Amino acid sequence: MLLSFSETFLEADFLENAAGSSIQQSGIILNLGTGSLNAGQEELASRESSLFRDITLTANGPAIVLRSALGFSALDSYRERDALMKKWKHVHEIFPLPHLKNTGLWRSEKQTVGKISMNFWFAAAGTDCGIHNEHDFLEIHTQIWGTGHMQKFHQRSADTLYQDILMTPGFTHKPFCSDDLRYPWHRYYSDTDCIWLAVEFTV
Ligand SMILES: [Fe+2]
Repeated sequence: MLLSFSETFLEADFLENAAGSSIQQSGIILNLGTGSLNAGQEELASRESSLFRDITLTANGPAIVLRSALGFSALDSYRERDALMKKWKHVHEIFPLPHLKNTGLWRSEKQTVGKISMNFWFAAAGTDCGIHNEHDFLEIHTQIWGTGHMQKFHQRSADTLYQDILMTPGFTHKPFCSDDLRYPWHRYYSDTDCIWLAVEFTV
């Protein structure tokens, strides 16, 4: 099922049951299930992703496949920046907090399938997306274009950083929260213009 926030240059295909699906051209596969998913000879753990081509998925369970005719290796190939900044919602429209007014961050529409909500984000190069520590869902992020960081902090202050996770195309970070959805202070920080997929699980 093609998700509603897909763009012509970036498709997000939600598979209720990934078994038997083939990936011919390169695609980022994210395992949304609680068990492992086999991509050809390789195994993706729950909520793990990677960039593949020319493989067949052979295990049951839900997955998302991200495809682009542009490929995922070169940010230079990404030409839709200005159009997205007009089309998608600025973060301050979604969360009208004073400190987000000048933040270079935009969000696509969000779609929910069962207990999983998904959307794309675009951040301009060098954007501090804001340190926060509250969500009522389990969140993960899958990098699609560009490079950025998911970072954890002891306090709500950038100089208290204690973990810095580099986000590169095809990579999904592990959940940051405990089973009862307690999060450390954390943020996304973009080095280059970035697009990523956000996935929120109701638990
Ligand atoms: Fe977060």
